[in-house]
Amino acid sequence: KVKQLEHRTHYHFQPQKHWINDPNGPMYYNGIYHLFYQYNPYGAVWGNIIWGHSVSMDLINWKALQPAIKPTKPYDRHGCWSGSATILPGNKPVILYTGVVDENKTQVQNYVLPKNINDPYLEEWIKPDDNPLLVAEPGVNRTAFRDPTTAWMGRDGHWRILIGSRRKHTGIAYLYKSKDFIKWVKAKHPLHSKDRTGNWECPDFFPVAREGKKGLDNSMIEEQNVKFVLKVSLDTTRYDYYTVGKYFPEIDRYIPDNTSVDGWKGLRYDYGNFYASKSFFDASKNRRILWGWSNESDTKMDDVEKGWAGIQTIPRRIWLHPNGKQLLAWPIEEVESLRGRRVQLRNENMKKGDVVEIKGITAAQADVEVVFSFPSLDKAEPLHPSLDHLDAHELCSRKGSSLHGGLGPFGLLTLASGKLEEYTPVFVRVFKAKNKHKILLCSDASSSSLKKGLYKPSFAGFLDVDLAKKKLSLRSLIDHSVVESFGAGGEVCITSRVYPALAVSDNAHLYAFNNGSETVAIETLDAWSIKGPKFMN
Ligand code: FRU
Repeated sequence: KVKQLEHRTHYHFQPQKHWINDPNGPMYYNGIYHLFYQYNPYGAVWGNIIWGHSVSMDLINWKALQPAIKPTKPYDRHGCWSGSATILPGNKPVILYTGVVDENKTQVQNYVLPKNINDPYLEEWIKPDDNPLLVAEPGVNRTAFRDPTTAWMGRDGHWRILIGSRRKHTGIAYLYKSKDFIKWVKAKHPLHSKDRTGNWECPDFFPVAREGKKGLDNSMIEEQNVKFVLKVSLDTTRYDYYTVGKYFPEIDRYIPDNTSVDGWKGLRYDYGNFYASKSFFDASKNRRILWGWSNESDTKMDDVEKGWAGIQTIPRRIWLHPNGKQLLAWPIEEVESLRGRRVQLRNENMKKGDVVEIKGITAAQADVEVVFSFPSLDKAEPLHPSLDHLDAHELCSRKGSSLHGGLGPFGLLTLASGKLEEYTPVFVRVFKAKNKHKILLCSDASSSSLKKGLYKPSFAGFLDVDLAKKKLSLRSLIDHSVVESFGAGGEVCITSRVYPALAVSDNAHLYAFNNGSETVAIETLDAWSIKGPKFMN
C-alpha cells in the first residue's frame, strides 16, 4: 500500500490503477472536457489496450466513466489504439481510432459515435456497421498505419485526416480525404514525409495564429496570418518533435519553414519524459491545449508493485512564439485554482555555493515561479570547442548542477532530502560559445534517488532567449514523482519522473541554489502549496 501511494501524483491526471499511455480524442463538447486514454484494465504494464474515458468541467477535477471503446469486433479484437475526435457540423462528435485486427498487429482505422447525443457525458459509444473505414492499400505498411488525427475541412468541403506511418525508415503522414467522413481516399502524396526518421506515431497537425495566444479550430486553414504545426512522435527516441511551417491547401502539402528541421534534431514540445501528445481546440476559451503522456522511469517490477503506471502531464496552452519559429507552452490557468499557501522571496542574492531553502509550503506538491537576474554575462564559462557539438542532454550530463561554473549553474533543487542525499535540480548554465551564448536548461534526475535500477536521465534543452535584460525565468510544477519545468515563459519545457527514497511527502524540501562564480539574485520567487483536486477519477 505504501509503495502504491508514495510516488502517486496528486494533481496530475491518473486513473485509480493500472497502465495508461497516450491521451486520445481530447475535446470540449457542450460544456464538458473529455479525455480518453490508452488503458490496460488488467494491469500496470502495456497490453489489452482499450479507451479509458474521463470527463471534467475544469480540466482539474475528473470523473471516470466506463471505458468508451473496447475490443469487440474483428476489426479491433487485438487492441483499440490511439485516435482523435472531430466535431462535425451540427455539433456531432465522432471518434476515429486504430483497431488492431490480428496477432501480426495489422492496423485499420475505425469510427465510433455517441449512442445518445443528449447524454452530457457521452458515456456510451457505438461502432457502426460500416467499420473498418480505412484499411492499408497495397504499398502501405499495414503494421505501421495508425493514430488518425482530428479531421479538418478544406475549401472544397472535403474532410482530411493524417495517419502515421513509415516506408522503410522514411516517416510518413499519409493524407486521406472524404466527403462524407465514411468513404476515405488516400491522396496522391502524403502531407509530409522525411527519410531516416522512422515510424511516425500520433501525428498532430493544426493552425496557429501568427500573433497572440488565441487558438484556432483545426478547420481554420484559410485564415489570414496563420502558420501550421506538424508534430510527430518518433518511436526510436520516444520524444515528440514538431516543425512550424506552411500548409498549401490547394495541393495538400505541408512544408516546414527553413528555421525548423524534421526529425530528431528538431524542436520538441518537451525535452523530457513526454510522448504521444495530442492537442485540441478549446472553443470555450479560444485556446489550443496540449495533452501528453509521461511514462514511468522506474522499473517494470516497481510499476507492478505500485499497481499503476503512466500519468498525463498538466494540460498546456500552446501558441506561436512572437519570433514565429517555435511554440510557447504554459500550464493552463486552471491549475492556479489549486494554489494554497504561498511563500515569497524578493531580491535575494545567491553567491557561489549558496543554497536557500524555500520553507513553508508542501515541497512535494508545489508550484514555483522564479525570476533570476545577474549583473553581467562576463563570467559565462567558455564552452570548450570539443563540447560545442554536444546536444543539450549530453552537455547536461557532463556539466551537472554541482560542478561549479561561471554564470550558473543556478536554479532550484526540487524533491530534495534534508541533507541533500537526493535532489532533482532544475537549473540554468550559460556558456560562451563561438559567436553567441548558449543557455542550457537542465532537469537532471541523476541524483534524484538513492534507489537502484531507476532510469535517471539528465534531460535538457537550449533556451533561445535574449539575455540583454540579464534575467531568466523558470516555473516548476512538482507532484511527488514528477517535475514539469518551463523555462523563459515556456520556450523550453522539461518533464522528469523521479522516485526519491527519502525526499517523500513531508520529508521533501525545496531549495534555490547557485554554483556559479557570478552572484545571481532571486529577483522574485513565489511558491505555492498545491491542493489536490476534489475529484480525480
Ligand atoms: C504511441 C502508441 C501509438 C499506438 C498506441 C498503442 O505510444 O504506440 O502509436 O496507437 O501507443 O497503445
